[in-house]
Order: sequence, then C-alpha cells, then structure tokens
Amino acid sequence: MTAPSRAEPSSLASSLHFWARNAANESALLRAALQLGLLDALPVTGQGAPIELSRLVERLGTSPRGLRSLLELLVGLGFVRQEPVRTFALEPAVAALLVDPPFRARLQAELPWWRPLGMLDEAVKRGEPVEHGGQRWDVLDHLRELFLSPAPISALPGAEDFFDRFARSAARTQVLISAARLGVLEALAASARTVPELGAATYMSSTGLRMLLEVLEHLGLSAPGNGGTWGLSPEASQLVAGKALPYLVRSMSVSAQYTEALGALDETVRTERFILDLKDPEVSRRFYADNSTQITEVFVSHLKLSLRAAQTVAQARPLEGARVLDIGTGSGVWGGAFARATPTTHVTYFDQEVVLEQVRRNVTNILKVSSRARFWPGNLFEQDFGEAEFDVIILPQVLNVLRPEGLPDIFSRVARALRPDGLLVIAEYVLNERRDGPLDHLYFGLRRFLTNEGDLLTASEYAALLSDVGLTRSVCIPLPTQELILAARPGVTLPTQLAPPPTAA
Ligand SMILES: C[S@@+](CC[C@H](N)C(=O)[O-])C[C@H]1O[C@@H](n2cnc3c(N)ncnc32)[C@H](O)[C@@H]1O
Repeated sequence: MTAPSRAEPSSLASSLHFWARNAANESALLRAALQLGLLDALPVTGQGAPIELSRLVERLGTSPRGLRSLLELLVGLGFVRQEPVRTFALEPAVAALLVDPPFRARLQAELPWWRPLGMLDEAVKRGEPVEHGGQRWDVLDHLRELFLSPAPISALPGAEDFFDRFARSAARTQVLISAARLGVLEALAASARTVPELGAATYMSSTGLRMLLEVLEHLGLSAPGNGGTWGLSPEASQLVAGKALPYLVRSMSVSAQYTEALGALDETVRTERFILDLKDPEVSRRFYADNSTQITEVFVSHLKLSLRAAQTVAQARPLEGARVLDIGTGSGVWGGAFARATPTTHVTYFDQEVVLEQVRRNVTNILKVSSRARFWPGNLFEQDFGEAEFDVIILPQVLNVLRPEGLPDIFSRVARALRPDGLLVIAEYVLNERRDGPLDHLYFGLRRFLTNEGDLLTASEYAALLSDVGLTRSVCIPLPTQELILAARPGVTLPTQLAPPPTAA
C-alpha cells in the first residue's frame, strides 16, 4: 500500500483558496496528532483490531470532541481508515513513515517553528532573526530551506507529501498573511517596482522583502520583470482583479486570527482551554463584527445563494405576507433574500447589536428593503423568540456557533416561535453520514472546536434533533457550497429540490 496521495489543487485559484482557508489547519492537525500521540496510539490497518474513539480518548486523556475533530479530518484526508462501526486504524504507509527515525526527527525539528513563523512580519520588516522564548529564530532562512532550496526529506513513499502538509502548508498561509498584512500584495498589484522601491513603499528591509517575493514567486503569485522590477504573476493579476484583492487581504486577516490557537491545538484538544474563545462575549463581538464586514464585501455572491434558497422555499410555501425571522443574520443577506422574494414579506433580523449596525446599512443601501425590516438585538443562546410568531425562521450558518449541547434548547425555542404551518430553514455545513467529508466542512468543524463553538452534524442527526421538538418532517438539499435543511410539522409540504439559479441578483 502506498501513502495516500494528495489531490493536487488544479489551479492557482484553488491553491489560493486552500492556502487562505485550510492549509494552516492541515499542518496544525498533523502536528497535534503527532504531539498528542494519536498517530502512535492507532493500530495499523491489517496489523491489529481497529480502535473506538472512546478507547483512544481514555488512552490519551483528551477531550472526546477535540479528538473526534482530529480523527474525522485524518480520515477525510486518507491518513486514517474508518471501519463501518466507527473504529479507526492508521494507514500502513503512514505508519511506515512514523517508525523511520530520521523522518520522525525531521518532523520533531519542525515543531518549534510555529510561533517564530507567526512572527514573519517582523522578520521581513527588519531582515533579521526574531526573538522568541529566549532564542533567535532565523525565519527568513527557514523559509528559504522550506521552499527555495529544500533538502530531500526521505526516499520513503509519501514522505515528501506528509512533510509538505506538516510543515509547508502552514508556512504558505503565513507567507500570504504577511504579504497581505504588510501591503506587499497591494503594492505589487499597483505597479511593477524594484525591491528598493517596494521597500520604501511598504517600510521593509530589502533582505526580508526579497525573500518574501521569492517565496511568493515560488507559489506562483509574484514574478520578476524587466530592470529588476517585481509584480504579480499574470495569473495572480487576473485572480485578484477588482474587488478580489481587498477580499483576499481581509480573508488573510481572518486567517491570522487563528494562527496562535492552531499552534496550540494539541493543548486545546487535551484540556479544552480555548485561546480564541468565541464564547467570550467581547471576543465574539470583535470577531463577528469583522466577519460581517467581510461577508458584506462579497454580498452579491452570497445573495445569489440565499435568493436561490428563498426561491426553493417559495416553491412549496408562498412567501406573500410571510413573517420571517433571520437568527444570527451576520450581514442580512439571508433575511434580505426572503424580503426580496415578494414585496410583502416582512423580515426580522436578529444578531448582536454591533453586528446589526452593518446589517442596517446593507438592508437599507444594498437590499433596499428597510421599510419591511425590524432589527432585533439579543443573545441567541437564551433569547425567547415568542410563540407562533413566524411563518419562516432561518438559521443561516449559525448553529455552528452553538456547542452541541445547546442545540436541543435552540430548536425548542425556534419550534415554539414557528406558526403551526411554519417552515424552518437551516443553512449549514452538513456532514455525510460517515462523517468523513466533505473535506472543506471537516476543516470548518475543526475551527469551530478550536473556537469553543459548534459541531457539525449529519442530515440524520439533524432530523433526529428536529423530530424531538415536533418538526418531524425534514429534507436536506445540497446548495453549491453548503447544505439546506428544511423542517416542518407533520402535514406541511416541503420542497424536494433546489430552485434554478436566479437570473439576476
Ligand atoms: C457564522 S456567522 C453567520 C452569519 C450569517 N448568518 C451568514 O450566513 O453569513 C454567526 C452569526 O451569529 C452571531 N452570533 C454569535 N453569537 C451570538 C449571540 N450570542 N447572540 C446573537 N448572535 C450571535 C454572530 O454575530 C454572527 O453574525
């Protein structure tokens, strides 16, 4: 058996998407699995009976939920095999790598670099090693070793791939974060310039800047031009044209918020102490205010999706005069789509007050439906939404904010607030029934664990929880990037398929 092969991203666009969102998660996952002893505790496929999650938890002394988040991703990536009865074993090719002492030593040597790499901005600005934990770390030289003049890792099958994910994935995210945060991407997009010109524009050392540019070139993002100038590569220029560059820069600032917590993932899985704790109201306010602004930048593409969801609901349940509640509205894009469905739908937008500031602007200026809007600030963990008040209640990407034990309670408050023939609309990342995909969803689930938030469920797990509160009918309909779950009481007709894409947003 060979090591699981990597599905290479097919284009710079999909690579960028991966580096911006999931690459650092991938390295953090493999580091934590090694540090916690998870990879060593798993029996090897074909050499011992696969093991249950609960026994692994007992043996390693970790949080069950945390360990499950790691394990499900390891299965999704092909490093661990899951048997039908939810028992797990390590793929033999991975086991062969881990018992090779030089390979193991190479992984161990990478472990302390997480924090110093997180200080890449400083290294680039000053062109010198950074200080961390009483030592000096030559981060620029480390980047050179990783990307520009890498030593062979090992001749064992799968060794290069495993090392790449373990060490370079996070470094790629970090390079993008620094290039975005230091204004290098914007400077390169503005015009081709020499290193001294770029250094003067971005207040950086030539040594640091040169290294950053060369690694960006290695990633396909920058390219040297005439007369010692540097610019974006032609493919990157196309990708970040127009609004895409500010969106990428902002995405990298969101990714940067996870860096420290990802570096301590092993500790969080061991102790459930959260470094980025979104259950802390102040942290949540800051994080989600930022999130709302970010979504607003790509409002049109989100609106296409939510309009399609509204049309799907309207196939089975006309929305004329409907009273709609959008809980955890974020940018207003979901409730807004329902408001746009007919001229008589009335929508209540519920979220934290700081987030509603942005929602009011979007509902007024972009959606132009403020005359049929009500803004309701509150705490979704405890808010009473009333009794039989709404025809449609939308929970768009918000259940993943609640820890799993909070779901029965919010479902019962929402079921109470629905009229007898009302419809509940959930937009979420719904896992397949084996809980080993889609991969993007599993990465998202790991980040929700890391931030002390919700868990991802399968369609049948949702159906069971919804049945418990009387919403015994439910369907799961895939949307292009997530899933739609529609639920209602017995006798209410539910749509069975997605409406066609709207012709105009
Ligand atoms: C992941 S975002 C989803 C935003 C939006 N529905 C969307 O699909 O883009 C979760 C939303 O839940 C809100 N939220 C989190 N905790 C909350 C709380 N305790 N009370 C009210 N809203 C909360 C956040 O402010 C944020 O807007």
